[in-house]
Amino acid sequence: MSTWTTLAVLDWTTKRFQDAQVSAARLEAQVLLAHALSCKRIELYTNFDRPMSEAELASYRGLIRRRLAGEPLAYLVGEHEFWSLPFWITPHVLVPRPDTETLIEVVLARGGAVTTKPGQGRVLDLCTGSGAIAVSLLHELPELTGVATDLSPEAVAVAVRNAERNGVSARLEVRQGDLWAPVAGEQFDLVVSNPPYVASEVIPTLSAEVRAEPRMALDGGPDGLAFYRRIIAEASGHLRSGGLLALEHGFDQADAVAAALRAAGLADVETVADLGKNPRVTLGRWQP
Ligand SMILES: C[S@@+](CC[C@H](N)C(=O)[O-])C[C@H]1O[C@@H](n2cnc3c(N)ncnc32)[C@H](O)[C@@H]1O
Repeated sequence: MSTWTTLAVLDWTTKRFQDAQVSAARLEAQVLLAHALSCKRIELYTNFDRPMSEAELASYRGLIRRRLAGEPLAYLVGEHEFWSLPFWITPHVLVPRPDTETLIEVVLARGGAVTTKPGQGRVLDLCTGSGAIAVSLLHELPELTGVATDLSPEAVAVAVRNAERNGVSARLEVRQGDLWAPVAGEQFDLVVSNPPYVASEVIPTLSAEVRAEPRMALDGGPDGLAFYRRIIAEASGHLRSGGLLALEHGFDQADAVAAALRAAGLADVETVADLGKNPRVTLGRWQP
């Protein structure tokens, strides 16, 4: 029987993933193997001729099987990078997407305009999931404090751990509850959200990988816009004068979100595209 070395296993998995149309086949093979061997990716190459034990091979095979069945890589290894920061990820939260980094860029590009009172800015992240948006913003903007909310208690627990992991827990409160309910009577300089926005009937047509994510992180109601209506309807009561509301949305939802922002009296409404040139973030300012 031939010996499986680290490199041989990596080559075999890369080919298997390519055949199965896994997008970043080599990278995913490296991440899974490093996870199975509890080592860094670079160490796979510094020990490329190391033979794997039967026990290591068995646990690695289990991971490969689950990945090929559509489980997201982040759920298998328990973490994922977003905005170059490390985030704990469990099957209770959406895996943060590169598209969502557009929301971070949009807010940062507006620099000082994020806070209506320099040195005292307050941000609210509705539907925070893993905490990716709130944690990244607080990491970038040390003068900000904030609140992140999610209906899922499990997501709240993950967001709390991610705030700790990235050194912002002293400035971020994570609260459980339905949309605005956990911040009744409170006002913010900046409100951001990437809410569930997939139309309910589209969910069964999504890939197995996306359907492995929590339904409550995806389902945006019959037309996918239910959360935008609820967020925008109450935004003015929670924004300080001059405050910004910035919403991520699906590639075909920009016009509906922009129209709803204008109808609610927000000013300076604009849409920003992501790296794939899809309209991705629409924002407006509360200027009563
Ligand atoms: C699309 S995910 C976004 C997660 C995270 N903000 C991100 O960008 O990676 C939407 C999140 O909304 C949460 N959610 C669903 N219904 C909610 C509600 N009624 N109130 C608050 N959060 C809700 C889900 O639990 C999920 O974490």
